[in-house]
Amino acid sequence: MRKQIKNNVSWVGKIDWGLTSFHGDDYSINSGSSQNAYLIEEEKVVLIDTVWSPHSNEFVENLKKEIDLNKIDYIIANHGEVDHSGSLPELMKLIPDTPIYCTANGVKSLVGQFHHPEWNFKVVKTGDTLDIGNGKQLVFVEMRMLHWPDSMAVYMTGDNILFSNDAFGQHFAVEELFNDKADQCTLWDEAIKYYANILNPFSPLVKKKIEDVLALNLPIDIIATSHGAIWRDNPAQIVEAYYKWSQAYQEDQVTVVFDSMWEGTEKLANEISRQVSLLSPDTRVKLYNVAKTDKNDIMTQVFKSKAIAVGSPTVHQGALSTVVGWLEFLKELKFKNKKAAVFGCYGWSGEGNKVLRAHLEEAGFETIAPEIRCSWNPREEDLAQARDVAKGLLGLA
Ligand code: FEO
Repeated sequence: MRKQIKNNVSWVGKIDWGLTSFHGDDYSINSGSSQNAYLIEEEKVVLIDTVWSPHSNEFVENLKKEIDLNKIDYIIANHGEVDHSGSLPELMKLIPDTPIYCTANGVKSLVGQFHHPEWNFKVVKTGDTLDIGNGKQLVFVEMRMLHWPDSMAVYMTGDNILFSNDAFGQHFAVEELFNDKADQCTLWDEAIKYYANILNPFSPLVKKKIEDVLALNLPIDIIATSHGAIWRDNPAQIVEAYYKWSQAYQEDQVTVVFDSMWEGTEKLANEISRQVSLLSPDTRVKLYNVAKTDKNDIMTQVFKSKAIAVGSPTVHQGALSTVVGWLEFLKELKFKNKKAAVFGCYGWSGEGNKVLRAHLEEAGFETIAPEIRCSWNPREEDLAQARDVAKGLLGLA
C-alpha cells in the first residue's frame, strides 16, 4: 500500500522483514530491509524503480489498487540490479509500451537480465530533464559506479526530492519509512555497514560525486533512498557522513581478527587486544574469530579502525581457509590508510605469517614489522611480544 512522502509523491515499495541476506549470501541482513519504489502523480504519472523479483506479483497487484497502470506515463529505472528492476517483466506484460528512462548502461543491464530489447528504453545522461507538469521537472544525474556502471539518481524540482537509489541507503526495515522515526543506533549501524561493505571500493568517486552535486546548490528536502529509511530530517547529515567516510575514514579503534586450531593463536589475539588497551585505554578494541562472526559485521569494524591485527596458525604451508577467504574479501573493499600486524602459531614449517602479510599488503594495508610467530603453544616470552605489536599498531613504536 502506498505511503505519502510529500505532496503527490508516494512510496509503493516492499518492506522486506524476512530478508536475511543479500547478493546471494555475501551481505548479511540483521534487521530486515526494503526495496523502495516511488509513484509521482503530477500531470504526468511516474514510477521510480520497482522491487525484487520474488515480490513482483504483490508489487503489481498493490500498484493496480493505487492507480490504473495505463495511466503511468514514465518508468524510471535508476539501477538495473534485480532488487530494483526485478518486477519490470511482470509490469511490462501489462503496459509494454511505457517508456523506461535509464542510462545507456542501464539498457545493457536490463536487456542482459530480462531479454526484452523491444522495451521502449529512453537513454538519459546527467543534466537531462523530463517535464512532469505542474511546473515540476525530473533531473537525471548519472551515478556511475555508485555502485554499478548503470546507477543513476533523479532529482525532482518543486518538491526538492533526490531519489538516490542505493546511495545513502541501508538494509534496514523501517515500517515508518523516515529517518526521524527509525531507531537511531540501528539506522547508523546499518548505514555505515552498507557503506563499508558495498560502497567503500568506490570512495574516490563518492567524494567527487558529492562535490559535484553540492556545487549545483540544489535545495534537497528529502533523500528518497532505495533501501531502508528515507532521509527527511536533516538529509544533509547522511551526505556529510558519506563525505567523511569517503576519505580514508578511521576512528580511534583497533580490530583483532583471527581463527585458531588449538587455541594458541587465540591466546595471542587476546594478548594483543589486552596490550592495545593497556597502552591506549581510550582506544576502542574489537576482537573477532572470523570463523564464528559475520564477515560483513567484522568489515564494518575494520572500516572504523586505524589498525588491525590478523592471526592464523600455519596449516599446509599457508593459513586457515577461514582467514584467507576473509582476506580475499578484505582486498575487494580497498580500505585505505590503515596499519596491520600479523601473528600466529605453528608446529612445523611456520609460513602462516608470511602468507597473511602478503595478503594484507595486497589489500593495501601498511604492515608493521613487529609480529608474533609462535612455535607450538605460546609461552610467556611469546606473549610478551604482543606489547611490541600493540605499540606498532598504535604508532607508538
Ligand atoms: Fe545495487 Fe539495491 O541494488
